[in-house]
Amino acid sequence: MNSTREFETQGFATKAIHAGQSPQQWNHGAVVPPLVMSTTFEQDAPAQHRGFEYGRSGNPTRNVLEACLAALEDGKHGITFASGLGATTAITALLQTGDHLIAGDDLYGGTNRLIQKCLSTQGITYSFVDMTKIENLTSAIKPNTKMIWLESPTNPLLKVTDIKAIVNSVKPHRQDIIIVVDNTFLTCYFQKPLEFGVDIVMYSMTKYINGHSDVIMGSAITRRDDLAERLRFLQNAMGIVPSPFDCSLVNRSLKTLELRMKQHMKNCLAVAKFLESHPCVERVFHPYLPSHPQYELTLKQTTGHSGMVSFYIKGDVKKFFKALKVFTLAESLGGYESLAELPSVMTHASVPEAERATLGITDKLIRLSVGLETEKDLIADLAQALAACQ
Ligand SMILES: Cc1ncc(COP(=O)(O)O)c(C=O)c1O
Repeated sequence: MNSTREFETQGFATKAIHAGQSPQQWNHGAVVPPLVMSTTFEQDAPAQHRGFEYGRSGNPTRNVLEACLAALEDGKHGITFASGLGATTAITALLQTGDHLIAGDDLYGGTNRLIQKCLSTQGITYSFVDMTKIENLTSAIKPNTKMIWLESPTNPLLKVTDIKAIVNSVKPHRQDIIIVVDNTFLTCYFQKPLEFGVDIVMYSMTKYINGHSDVIMGSAITRRDDLAERLRFLQNAMGIVPSPFDCSLVNRSLKTLELRMKQHMKNCLAVAKFLESHPCVERVFHPYLPSHPQYELTLKQTTGHSGMVSFYIKGDVKKFFKALKVFTLAESLGGYESLAELPSVMTHASVPEAERATLGITDKLIRLSVGLETEKDLIADLAQALAACQ
């Protein structure tokens, strides 16, 4: 049940439930993988251990989760980190002083901040480009470009980038450029960037992968042995590891990832259609609405969309948020509960004001993370809040 070959042929839910979880790996045969909290492990003789020596360099509960993540992504190696930004820190630590990074212009604010405020102090230069037009990317490539970082769909404007076209336009000439996709918004249930030829898939597992808004964690998944070896080294050397308890929670959450993603998709599309028909809404951003500029590409590249939808409101933003009863005004996304936020002053406040203005992250742009509540209750809540914002 545990060979990689076997998992290659299995369905998503079967992998989520069984990959890496075999009871045979434990003497006691526990069906649910044990939560091993021990920070240190007995050695048979000096430097002779049984696979584990110290909790930062390896932990059985973490191994279970990492194996399951790699299988779900159709990857080879899964490496977990203390947060999504921890994963980003480790991945960008593959770069060296003098290297150049190209990133999408509509990224999660914290990734933008890490690039502008932290990587720049290490002598790494960067360009932000709108990757929905491939020529923007190809013309930004320099001899010292070593990494391309993209999100698709982007946060918060849900722009879709043609991942396969990027790989095909970069890789034949520049094998040395590492292409990374932050797949947080869709998860491997709806989009598999490794299949398009990217090198690393990155997650804030704080979001859909865990899905219960009670864990901060990140991961990097790859098919490349060389990158995995380096990332595994950085995980331990930089000390950005998740706790075994959190690993156990995320491993448990993976079991319902397929069910949750299907319901997020259903609820969110219903919400998006409702918003698009509402007179107090100026414009809705949802990749599965035919009005979305990259609708055709979305259908080609993904098998669905999560609970993320953004829109420009015509009325009073503060009144709208105050009136909400089912949606909670809070940052983050991807949990079972519905959230609403104002990116310009919340999740994207760290993006410089001028950049926000160019991108369209205005004080009228609202981002929703549509949860798993009953569809009609979500729509009724938005209807009454929109009525209150006049
Ligand atoms: C798309 C995306 N990437 C990365 C991150 C950072 O992850 P974390 O908050 O787990 O560090 C976030 C957090 O909101 C995110 O939305």
